Amino acid sequence: RKDLLHIESLTRDEIELIIQTAKPMKEILFRPIKKLPTFRGKSVINLFYESSTRTKSSFETAAKVLGADTTSLAVAQSSVNKGETLYDTARTLQAMNPDIVVVRHASSGAAQFLSQTLKAGVINAGDGQHEHPTQALLDLFTMREHITDLSGKKVLIVGDVLHSRVARSNVYSLTKMGAEVVLVGPPTLLPPEMKILGVKMSYQLDTELPGADVVMALRLQLERQQAGLLPSLREYSLLYGLNRERIEQTGKDTLVMHPGPMNRGVEITSEVANSPNAVIEEQVTNGVAIRMAIMYLLMGGTSNVVA
Ligand code: CP
Repeated sequence: RKDLLHIESLTRDEIELIIQTAKPMKEILFRPIKKLPTFRGKSVINLFYESSTRTKSSFETAAKVLGADTTSLAVAQSSVNKGETLYDTARTLQAMNPDIVVVRHASSGAAQFLSQTLKAGVINAGDGQHEHPTQALLDLFTMREHITDLSGKKVLIVGDVLHSRVARSNVYSLTKMGAEVVLVGPPTLLPPEMKILGVKMSYQLDTELPGADVVMALRLQLERQQAGLLPSLREYSLLYGLNRERIEQTGKDTLVMHPGPMNRGVEITSEVANSPNAVIEEQVTNGVAIRMAIMYLLMGGTSNVVA
Protein backbone atom coordinates (compact mmCIF):
# COMPACT_ATOMS: atom_id res chain seq x y z
CA ARG A 1 0.00 0.00 0.00
CA LYS A 2 1.14 3.58 -0.74
CA ASP A 3 -1.50 5.23 1.48
CA LEU A 4 -3.61 4.80 4.60
CA LEU A 5 -6.98 6.31 3.76
CA HIS A 6 -9.56 4.36 5.73
CA ILE A 7 -10.06 1.41 8.04
CA GLU A 8 -12.90 0.12 5.87
CA SER A 9 -10.40 -1.18 3.30
CA LEU A 10 -7.95 -2.74 5.79
CA THR A 11 -7.99 -6.46 6.45
CA ARG A 12 -7.89 -7.86 9.96
CA ASP A 13 -4.33 -9.09 9.25
CA GLU A 14 -3.22 -5.61 8.15
CA ILE A 15 -4.69 -4.11 11.33
CA GLU A 16 -2.92 -6.79 13.38
CA LEU A 17 0.39 -6.01 11.64
CA ILE A 18 0.07 -2.31 12.50
CA ILE A 19 -0.70 -3.12 16.16
CA GLN A 20 2.22 -5.55 16.40
CA THR A 21 4.57 -3.00 14.81
CA ALA A 22 3.39 -0.28 17.22
CA LYS A 23 4.53 -2.30 20.26
CA PRO A 24 8.30 -1.96 19.70
CA MET A 25 7.74 1.60 18.44
CA LYS A 26 6.21 2.46 21.81
CA GLU A 27 9.28 1.12 23.64
CA ILE A 28 11.44 3.51 21.62
CA LEU A 29 9.44 6.45 23.00
CA PHE A 30 10.62 5.59 26.52
CA ARG A 31 14.31 5.29 25.71
CA PRO A 32 16.70 8.01 26.95
CA ILE A 33 17.48 8.86 23.31
CA LYS A 34 14.37 8.54 21.21
CA LYS A 35 15.67 8.94 17.70
CA LEU A 36 16.09 6.30 14.99
CA PRO A 37 18.04 6.57 11.75
CA THR A 38 15.28 4.64 9.90
CA PHE A 39 13.82 7.65 8.05
CA ARG A 40 17.06 9.63 7.63
CA GLY A 41 16.70 11.63 4.40
CA LYS A 42 12.92 11.13 4.25
CA SER A 43 10.49 14.02 4.44
CA VAL A 44 7.00 14.20 5.93
CA ILE A 45 4.61 17.10 5.31
CA ASN A 46 1.70 17.77 7.68
CA LEU A 47 -1.20 19.47 5.90
CA PHE A 48 -3.94 20.26 8.42
CA TYR A 49 -6.90 22.28 7.12
CA GLU A 50 -8.72 21.76 10.42
CA SER A 51 -7.57 22.34 14.00
CA SER A 52 -5.70 19.60 15.80
CA THR A 53 -3.60 19.18 18.91
CA ARG A 54 -3.12 15.41 19.29
CA THR A 55 -3.03 14.15 15.72
CA LYS A 56 -0.81 16.88 14.30
CA SER A 57 1.73 16.90 17.12
CA SER A 58 1.86 13.11 17.31
CA PHE A 59 2.48 12.73 13.57
CA GLU A 60 5.25 15.31 13.85
CA THR A 61 6.74 13.56 16.89
CA ALA A 62 6.43 10.14 15.24
CA ALA A 63 8.18 11.32 12.07
CA LYS A 64 10.97 12.96 14.09
CA VAL A 65 11.56 9.88 16.26
CA LEU A 66 11.89 7.87 13.06
CA GLY A 67 14.52 10.36 11.87
CA ALA A 68 12.52 12.13 9.14
CA ASP A 69 12.54 15.83 8.32
CA THR A 70 9.09 17.31 8.93
CA THR A 71 7.27 20.35 7.63
CA SER A 72 3.93 21.44 9.04
CA LEU A 73 2.16 23.77 6.63
CA ALA A 74 0.40 26.52 8.57
CA VAL A 75 -2.74 26.44 6.43
CA ALA A 76 -4.16 29.64 7.95
CA GLN A 77 -1.05 31.54 6.78
CA SER A 78 -0.65 29.67 3.48
CA SER A 79 -1.79 30.48 -0.03
CA VAL A 80 -4.98 28.51 0.70
CA ASN A 81 -6.07 31.89 2.08
CA LYS A 82 -5.57 33.38 -1.37
CA GLY A 83 -7.91 30.81 -2.89
CA GLU A 84 -5.44 28.09 -3.85
CA THR A 85 -7.28 24.80 -4.40
CA LEU A 86 -6.48 21.50 -2.72
CA TYR A 87 -5.37 20.22 -6.14
CA ASP A 88 -2.89 23.04 -6.68
CA THR A 89 -1.66 22.81 -3.09
CA ALA A 90 -1.09 19.10 -3.67
CA ARG A 91 0.79 19.71 -6.93
CA THR A 92 2.94 22.33 -5.21
CA LEU A 93 3.79 19.92 -2.39
CA GLN A 94 4.49 17.12 -4.87
CA ALA A 95 7.04 19.35 -6.59
CA MET A 96 9.06 19.20 -3.34
CA ASN A 97 9.07 15.39 -3.60
CA PRO A 98 7.97 14.49 -0.06
CA ASP A 99 7.80 10.85 1.01
CA ILE A 100 4.63 11.15 3.09
CA VAL A 101 1.85 13.74 3.26
CA VAL A 102 -0.47 13.67 6.27
CA VAL A 103 -3.76 15.45 5.61
CA ARG A 104 -6.73 16.57 7.68
CA HIS A 105 -9.54 18.25 5.79
CA ALA A 106 -13.19 19.17 6.35
CA SER A 107 -14.27 17.35 3.18
CA SER A 108 -14.91 13.61 3.21
CA GLY A 109 -12.77 12.12 0.45
CA ALA A 110 -10.03 14.79 0.57
CA ALA A 111 -7.36 12.24 1.50
CA GLN A 112 -8.49 9.91 -1.29
CA PHE A 113 -8.29 12.81 -3.74
CA LEU A 114 -4.75 13.67 -2.62
CA SER A 115 -3.67 10.04 -2.86
CA GLN A 116 -4.63 10.07 -6.55
CA THR A 117 -2.76 13.33 -7.13
CA LEU A 118 0.44 12.71 -5.16
CA LYS A 119 3.22 10.20 -5.71
CA ALA A 120 3.94 10.49 -1.98
CA GLY A 121 2.24 8.23 0.51
CA VAL A 122 -0.91 9.88 1.90
CA ILE A 123 -2.20 9.33 5.42
CA ASN A 124 -5.71 10.41 6.31
CA ALA A 125 -5.63 12.34 9.59
CA GLY A 126 -9.41 12.87 9.48
CA ASP A 127 -11.60 13.74 6.48
CA GLY A 128 -14.91 15.43 7.20
CA GLN A 129 -17.40 13.07 8.82
CA HIS A 130 -15.94 10.09 6.97
CA GLU A 131 -12.97 8.43 8.73
CA HIS A 132 -10.11 9.03 11.16
CA PRO A 133 -8.21 5.77 10.68
CA THR A 134 -5.15 6.47 12.84
CA GLN A 135 -7.43 7.36 15.79
CA ALA A 136 -9.24 4.03 15.49
CA LEU A 137 -5.93 2.18 15.33
CA LEU A 138 -4.57 3.90 18.42
CA ASP A 139 -7.86 3.24 20.20
CA LEU A 140 -7.63 -0.43 19.27
CA PHE A 141 -3.99 -0.61 20.35
CA THR A 142 -4.95 0.91 23.72
CA MET A 143 -7.86 -1.50 24.21
CA ARG A 144 -5.62 -4.45 23.31
CA GLU A 145 -3.07 -3.44 25.94
CA HIS A 146 -5.80 -3.99 28.56
CA ILE A 147 -8.02 -6.63 26.90
CA THR A 148 -6.02 -9.21 24.97
CA ASP A 149 -8.90 -10.55 22.89
CA LEU A 150 -11.71 -8.19 21.93
CA SER A 151 -13.82 -10.95 20.42
CA GLY A 152 -17.28 -10.79 22.02
CA LYS A 153 -16.31 -7.85 24.25
CA LYS A 154 -18.92 -5.10 24.61
CA VAL A 155 -17.77 -1.65 23.49
CA LEU A 156 -20.12 1.31 23.93
CA ILE A 157 -19.46 4.39 21.78
CA VAL A 158 -21.54 7.17 23.26
CA GLY A 159 -22.52 10.57 21.93
CA ASP A 160 -22.36 12.54 18.72
CA VAL A 161 -22.00 9.62 16.30
CA LEU A 162 -23.51 11.59 13.43
CA HIS A 163 -20.55 13.97 13.12
CA SER A 164 -17.90 11.51 14.26
CA ARG A 165 -15.31 10.17 11.86
CA VAL A 166 -13.77 8.56 14.96
CA ALA A 167 -16.94 6.52 15.56
CA ARG A 168 -17.11 5.35 11.95
CA SER A 169 -13.45 4.22 11.89
CA ASN A 170 -13.83 2.55 15.28
CA VAL A 171 -16.90 0.66 14.10
CA TYR A 172 -14.91 -0.75 11.17
CA SER A 173 -11.87 -1.73 13.25
CA LEU A 174 -13.78 -3.13 16.24
CA THR A 175 -16.24 -5.20 14.20
CA LYS A 176 -13.30 -6.63 12.21
CA MET A 177 -11.85 -7.71 15.58
CA GLY A 178 -15.13 -9.40 16.59
CA ALA A 179 -16.19 -6.90 19.29
CA GLU A 180 -19.86 -6.26 20.05
CA VAL A 181 -20.25 -2.54 19.30
CA VAL A 182 -23.18 -0.50 20.60
CA LEU A 183 -23.62 3.08 19.39
CA VAL A 184 -25.50 5.16 21.94
CA GLY A 185 -26.82 8.70 21.62
CA PRO A 186 -29.84 10.90 21.05
CA PRO A 187 -31.92 9.96 17.97
CA THR A 188 -30.85 13.13 16.15
CA LEU A 189 -27.15 12.22 16.51
CA LEU A 190 -27.36 8.50 15.58
CA PRO A 191 -27.37 7.98 11.78
CA PRO A 192 -29.63 4.93 11.12
CA GLU A 193 -27.52 3.82 8.13
CA MET A 194 -24.73 2.77 10.49
CA LYS A 195 -26.86 -0.26 11.42
CA ILE A 196 -25.75 -1.96 8.22
CA LEU A 197 -22.19 -1.99 9.60
CA GLY A 198 -23.25 -4.69 12.07
CA VAL A 199 -23.64 -2.62 15.22
CA LYS A 200 -26.47 -2.16 17.69
CA MET A 201 -27.92 1.34 18.06
CA SER A 202 -29.51 2.56 21.27
CA TYR A 203 -30.92 5.81 22.67
CA GLN A 204 -30.71 4.54 26.26
CA LEU A 205 -27.25 4.73 27.80
CA ASP A 206 -28.33 3.43 31.20
CA THR A 207 -29.76 0.19 29.80
CA GLU A 208 -26.61 -0.49 27.75
CA LEU A 209 -24.03 0.07 30.50
CA PRO A 210 -24.23 -3.28 32.36
CA GLY A 211 -21.48 -5.60 31.11
CA ALA A 212 -19.65 -2.97 29.04
CA ASP A 213 -15.91 -3.70 28.81
CA VAL A 214 -15.14 -0.34 27.20
CA VAL A 215 -17.07 2.93 27.25
CA MET A 216 -15.88 5.55 24.78
CA ALA A 217 -17.32 9.04 25.05
CA LEU A 218 -17.34 11.09 21.86
CA ARG A 219 -16.89 14.82 21.77
CA LEU A 220 -20.10 16.73 21.19
CA GLN A 221 -19.02 18.55 18.02
CA LEU A 222 -20.62 21.89 18.78
CA GLU A 223 -19.05 23.49 15.69
CA ARG A 224 -20.81 21.04 13.33
CA GLN A 225 -24.32 21.04 14.85
CA GLN A 226 -27.32 22.11 12.77
CA ALA A 227 -30.15 23.96 14.46
CA GLY A 228 -32.59 21.64 16.20
CA LEU A 229 -30.35 18.52 16.24
CA LEU A 230 -28.84 19.06 19.64
CA PRO A 231 -30.63 18.85 22.98
CA SER A 232 -29.53 21.44 25.55
CA LEU A 233 -26.09 20.71 26.98
CA ARG A 234 -27.65 20.13 30.39
CA GLU A 235 -30.16 17.64 28.98
CA TYR A 236 -27.44 15.93 26.94
CA SER A 237 -25.19 15.60 29.95
CA LEU A 238 -28.05 14.25 32.06
CA LEU A 239 -28.91 11.52 29.53
CA TYR A 240 -25.54 10.69 27.96
CA GLY A 241 -22.77 12.18 30.11
CA LEU A 242 -20.33 9.71 31.66
CA ASN A 243 -20.20 10.11 35.43
CA ARG A 244 -19.04 7.88 38.27
CA GLU A 245 -22.46 6.36 38.91
CA ARG A 246 -22.78 5.36 35.28
CA ILE A 247 -19.31 3.79 35.13
CA GLU A 248 -20.21 1.78 38.25
CA GLN A 249 -23.32 0.52 36.44
CA THR A 250 -21.08 -1.45 34.05
CA GLY A 251 -20.32 -3.83 36.94
CA LYS A 252 -16.82 -4.21 35.48
CA ASP A 253 -13.43 -2.58 35.67
CA THR A 254 -14.41 -0.93 32.41
CA LEU A 255 -12.00 1.11 30.29
CA VAL A 256 -13.05 4.72 29.82
CA MET A 257 -11.84 6.29 26.59
CA HIS A 258 -12.16 9.62 24.83
CA PRO A 259 -10.44 10.61 21.58
CA GLY A 260 -10.15 14.22 22.75
CA PRO A 261 -10.50 17.10 22.90
CA MET A 262 -12.96 16.71 25.80
CA ASN A 263 -15.86 18.92 26.77
CA ARG A 264 -15.45 18.28 30.48
CA GLY A 265 -18.77 18.44 32.28
CA VAL A 266 -20.71 17.72 29.08
CA GLU A 267 -19.92 14.24 27.70
CA ILE A 268 -17.67 13.26 30.61
CA THR A 269 -17.15 14.52 34.15
CA SER A 270 -13.67 15.48 35.30
CA GLU A 271 -13.98 12.84 38.01
CA VAL A 272 -14.33 10.09 35.40
CA ALA A 273 -11.78 11.58 32.99
CA ASN A 274 -9.20 11.67 35.80
CA SER A 275 -10.15 8.29 37.30
CA PRO A 276 -7.97 5.13 37.19
CA ASN A 277 -10.39 3.61 34.66
CA ALA A 278 -9.64 6.36 32.15
CA VAL A 279 -6.92 5.63 29.57
CA ILE A 280 -7.21 8.93 27.75
CA GLU A 281 -3.53 9.89 28.12
CA GLU A 282 -2.46 6.34 27.19
CA GLN A 283 -4.42 6.89 23.98
CA VAL A 284 -2.27 9.95 23.26
CA THR A 285 1.02 8.10 23.87
CA ASN A 286 -0.18 5.19 21.78
CA GLY A 287 -1.06 7.64 19.02
CA VAL A 288 2.62 8.39 18.51
CA ALA A 289 3.53 4.68 18.42
CA ILE A 290 0.72 3.83 15.99
CA ARG A 291 1.67 6.70 13.68
CA MET A 292 5.31 5.60 13.75
CA ALA A 293 4.19 2.08 12.84
CA ILE A 294 1.99 3.26 9.98
CA MET A 295 4.65 5.49 8.44
CA TYR A 296 7.27 2.77 8.88
CA LEU A 297 5.10 0.14 7.17
CA LEU A 298 4.05 2.47 4.33
CA MET A 299 7.73 3.15 3.64
CA GLY A 300 8.30 -0.57 3.20
CA GLY A 301 9.34 -1.52 6.73
CA THR A 302 8.82 -5.08 7.83
CA SER A 303 7.19 -6.33 11.00
CA ASN A 304 10.69 -7.01 12.40
CA VAL A 305 11.50 -3.55 13.69
CA VAL A 306 15.29 -3.22 13.82
CA ALA A 307 16.19 -0.28 16.02
N1 CP B 1 -8.53 12.96 18.51
C1 CP B 1 -8.14 13.95 17.70
O1 CP B 1 -8.19 13.83 16.49
O2 CP B 1 -7.67 15.06 18.36
P1 CP B 1 -7.13 16.37 17.63
O3 CP B 1 -8.29 17.01 16.94
O4 CP B 1 -6.55 17.23 18.74
O5 CP B 1 -6.08 15.95 16.64
